Amino acid sequence: MRGDNHSESAEDQRTAFYNDVVAGLSQDQKTLPCRWLYDQRGSELFEAITDLPEYYPTRTEVSIFKQHLPAMAAAIGEQAHVVEFGAGAGTKTRLLLDALVAPKSYVAIDISADFLASSMASLAAAYPSLEVIPRVGDFMQTAEMAAMQLPEGNRLAFFPGSTIGNLLDHEIITFLRSVRAALDNNDLGEDGKFLIGFDLVKSEDILVPAYDDAAGVTAAFNLNLLARINRELDGGFDIDGFTHEARWNEQDGRIEMHLVSRREQTVGVNGDTFSFKAGETIHTENSRKFKMEGFRELAAEAGWTFKETWTDDQDYFAVSLME
Ligand code: AVJ
Repeated sequence: MRGDNHSESAEDQRTAFYNDVVAGLSQDQKTLPCRWLYDQRGSELFEAITDLPEYYPTRTEVSIFKQHLPAMAAAIGEQAHVVEFGAGAGTKTRLLLDALVAPKSYVAIDISADFLASSMASLAAAYPSLEVIPRVGDFMQTAEMAAMQLPEGNRLAFFPGSTIGNLLDHEIITFLRSVRAALDNNDLGEDGKFLIGFDLVKSEDILVPAYDDAAGVTAAFNLNLLARINRELDGGFDIDGFTHEARWNEQDGRIEMHLVSRREQTVGVNGDTFSFKAGETIHTENSRKFKMEGFRELAAEAGWTFKETWTDDQDYFAVSLME
């Protein structure tokens, strides 16, 4: 494994977290960026979510991969350099690497240094001939993406899990453009490809339980954000003073996660205080559900064209290869 030469220090991360908390809790509609949900505990809880009976996305996407990976691998070609944004447990990564013919390298970019280190070490052990390159960083930062030197050749960006659904339209376009720029190796005349998974619009009866499960794992995942503020920023949140809510926002085509204050209360964070009315919420995450045509249009605005798209029988989820 190659050493990481572009990491954000723990102190920088804490400062960024603190700034986001103060800015987010000072707004009319209180909000916290969803990236802070994924500390060690949050990443573990998210892994548990992917096994829930109500949470269809992971299971559906994995079934799409299992059925269509030979076709995907053929369309991608040999000796790929794979770049993944946000390294998960690696199940989908391994399915892809197993299907590809002689992949050359695997670059994983993730915000959680601890999670990245452990998952990359086991991946490197399982694929001895693959060059495994961990990068700690925020792939949403265009500048960080541009500075990232990728190995030259048949470059493939891999972004499964509908993580793109966390973003707003303009952020999606900016992100897709910066991936395009990072993948472009002019001198070789190869433009790179992008294999991306995205969730589709479906009935509210399916959508809401997927984000508000009977066992309360998603609630624990959401509430962990307050516990993290307490742990890392000397926060004074009473975790029992808030409840989890998942809302379907039809207009914007997204599930929203909120933390709802059970009562009027004031909370201190590192010297600052924030007041909550009873029922007031902190908006913690958006999870976009796309219409196929809508996603295709966003991709086109960023310069990507669909080469092939694979879905499941119920059209719950889609995986597209773009170029
Ligand atoms: C990791 C962003 C794809 O939106 O489905 C799951 C996060 N939040 N349950 C999603 C999530 C609550 C997940 N993504």
